[in-house]
Amino acid sequence: MAELKVKLGSDSYDIHIGTNWISELANQFTQMKFSSNALIISDSNVAPLYSNKIAAVLNSVGFSTEHYSIDPGEQSKSATDAMDIYTKAIESKLDRKSPIVALGGGVVGDLAGFIAATYLRGVPFIQIPTTLLAQVDSSVGGKVAINHPLGKNLIGAFYQPELVFIDTLFLDTLPERELYTGLAEVLKYGVISDCDFFDYLRQNSNDILMKRPETIIKIIHRSCQIKADIVSTDERETGLRAILNFGHTIGHAIEAYTNFEKYNHGEAVAIGMHGAALISYHMGLCSAEVVEKICHCITKFHLPLKAAHCPADKILPLLVRDKKVINGKLNWVLIKDLGQVTIVNNVPDAIIAAALNEIT
Ligand SMILES: NC(=O)c1ccc[n+]([C@@H]2O[C@H](COP(=O)([O-])OP(=O)(O)OC[C@H]3O[C@@H](n4cnc5c(N)ncnc54)[C@H](O)[C@@H]3O)[C@@H](O)[C@H]2O)c1
Ligand SMILES: [Zn+2]
Repeated sequence: MAELKVKLGSDSYDIHIGTNWISELANQFTQMKFSSNALIISDSNVAPLYSNKIAAVLNSVGFSTEHYSIDPGEQSKSATDAMDIYTKAIESKLDRKSPIVALGGGVVGDLAGFIAATYLRGVPFIQIPTTLLAQVDSSVGGKVAINHPLGKNLIGAFYQPELVFIDTLFLDTLPERELYTGLAEVLKYGVISDCDFFDYLRQNSNDILMKRPETIIKIIHRSCQIKADIVSTDERETGLRAILNFGHTIGHAIEAYTNFEKYNHGEAVAIGMHGAALISYHMGLCSAEVVEKICHCITKFHLPLKAAHCPADKILPLLVRDKKVINGKLNWVLIKDLGQVTIVNNVPDAIIAAALNEIT
């Protein structure tokens, strides 16, 4: 097992990573000063697989457990679902110290976290992420949100969990495509801040794809560490945290253009990382070899390099709708070298268009 701390003053918390160790949750819960009724929020894919196991562990140390299961998928990150869960929380008589447990992927984590942040102005929140993407990304950093019909994640808060508990065993039941989507974010961490980690990913891709426990623990640990370090320096995204958006500017535009149906998040980010790498190269910031290495890894992880049927002239206007536009200027996270990025807000339109043409 591995452990690390997200350092945020009084809001600091631990991330615990292990394999086949759900029973350890008993220890963690007894150390916290929670009320004894917990609400486990999950989705209807994950709940039948793991909800009862988690409940049994919590019951064994004196917690009663209520369950709420949402339909799987992004459409459940909604105000309607949130309202239904508030009703469940009130009816279950959850008080200010009752823990809300998110058991699932990023959809469950974001929604449950939003409930935890707002119900009674904030109750304890525990993340038990079950997708690789949630284990390396969405469960760390404290961004919680629901969607608005006019846009994703528009209603939200920064709200830190008390604990992130990761069991790599959950990945055994994860569909392969969801594993690959998480690997896009893992690759991103290597590119933005650790060239040795990037090389490790390149050299161990087969073990990663076979989900060898030591390898998986290592990549989750290093990914969480990189994200935790960045978030600890810049909790509210006023500076450094923006580098986590590498590949996301184009990625979000592709997701939007394809109505969030054709590509999942990691796939769109992979295409976006390819685009950002090309822009970096055309701006004279990095070598062709860097672009080639990134493309090689993206392909190794069964992720796409190009978005077919997404014409560049349709993607371009969507870029400026990105949340990260400030004062009309698009901030690009670009690569200087593997493990080293910089933020540039004066990329010529012609270079953006040329890169988009290469990836669509
Ligand atoms: N808060 C953040 O910082 C942050 C960061 C990145 C992404 N996100 C959010 O995360 C969401 C995407 O998360 P995701 O990729 O985890 O998707 P998801 O939560 O939709 O899960 C993907 C699919 O896998 C299923 N699943 C989950 N765990 C499983 C398991 N162990 N076995 C079998 N099936 C399982 C789910 O039911 C679902 O169908 C988006 O809403 C995105 O906005 C948030
Ligand atoms: Zn992402």
